[in-house]
Amino acid sequence: MSNWVEGKVVEINWWTPSLFSLKVAADIEPFFAGQFTKLGLEINNRKVARAYSFVNAPADPLLEFFLIEVDKGALSSHLAQLGEGDNIWVNTKPSGFFVLDEVPKANTLWMLSTGTAIGPFLSILADGKLWRDYDRVVLVHGVRHNTDLCYQDQIKATEKLFPQFKYVQLVSRETPENGLHGRITHVLSNGELLSYCNIGEFAQDHHFMLCGNPAMVKDTTALLLEMGFKKHRRAEAGHITVEQYW
Ligand SMILES: Cc1cc2nc3c(=O)[nH]c(=O)nc-3n(C[C@H](O)[C@H](O)[C@H](O)COP(=O)(O)OP(=O)(O)OC[C@H]3O[C@@H](n4cnc5c(N)ncnc54)[C@H](O)[C@@H]3O)c2cc1C
Ligand SMILES: NC(=O)c1ccc[n+]([C@@H]2O[C@H](COP(=O)([O-])OP(=O)(O)OC[C@H]3O[C@@H](n4cnc5c(N)ncnc54)[C@H](OP(=O)(O)O)[C@@H]3O)[C@@H](O)[C@H]2O)c1
Repeated sequence: MSNWVEGKVVEINWWTPSLFSLKVAADIEPFFAGQFTKLGLEINNRKVARAYSFVNAPADPLLEFFLIEVDKGALSSHLAQLGEGDNIWVNTKPSGFFVLDEVPKANTLWMLSTGTAIGPFLSILADGKLWRDYDRVVLVHGVRHNTDLCYQDQIKATEKLFPQFKYVQLVSRETPENGLHGRITHVLSNGELLSYCNIGEFAQDHHFMLCGNPAMVKDTTALLLEMGFKKHRRAEAGHITVEQYW
């Protein structure tokens, strides 16, 4: 239990019947934008814990997480029952390498996310250090339905402040109210993403951060490799950095 602290749920925001955000007060070690920690609950006398990315900037006093209630999910279905003032276990040691310190400087940073995996990108944007290292930043949020496009106020405020930032809504299972239709793989390969962003081509001075559904991460990585980009490694700089959510 030494790496766990009991936190308190301070605020809950339900965006849709299955998507919600938790704000938690907990005294944990500092983290870097893009990292995650574990949240846990005692369920049938056993602690059940899972990884969740921080959505808030590291400097914010409250921790924020963006979750989906997975049908019959061992933990998320219980986290969805929490109320304000309830206790929650929070691991005190944030971890993960999906952080800008692990990503080379580039002309254009592509942030490609599905579902709740927009979270680490919101933290990186809120942190604000990226504007030093990238001339242009594109955040793509791939979701099934228009209503899954959460955090609109925060994203619109970032667009207003930073003209070098472009946000792309990508909806796969209905006609998009704004943005593009389909999957990340489709709009990458058919040129729609480039033309929507007014960018001529994907170039060697671009970097791609991929986060979310493992099938999206796998298929998009394969596509980028075919296009001549390389996986980024500490020992050998490349163009692709990934994080899978399951
Ligand atoms: C590094 C990392 C960071 C993560 N950050 C987040 C986060 O910020 N928000 C979040 O909601 N989840 C996040 N996850 C997933 C999270 O850890 C749990 O897997 C998720 O909450 C389901 O747990 P469960 O016990 O309810 O479901 P389980 O009973 O463990 O069922 C797992 C199944 O749920 C589905 N699933 C899991 N996560 C998701 C998801 N995010 N979106 C859609 N389907 C999913 C998959 O089908 C998976 O096979 C992260 C995972 C990793 C590895
Ligand atoms: N989102 C909802 O409305 C909703 C509601 C209730 C429950 N759930 C549950 O939540 C889970 C799914 O959550 P989710 O909607 O956030 O995530 P998801 O299934 O990962 O879908 C998010 C986006 O990723 C796309 N995608 C999936 N595989 C891909 C691939 N190989 N390459 C490129 N893109 C890919 C999806 O496109 P496609 O649409 O083409 O697959 C969708 O646009 C499921 O357990 C589901 O039962 C979701």
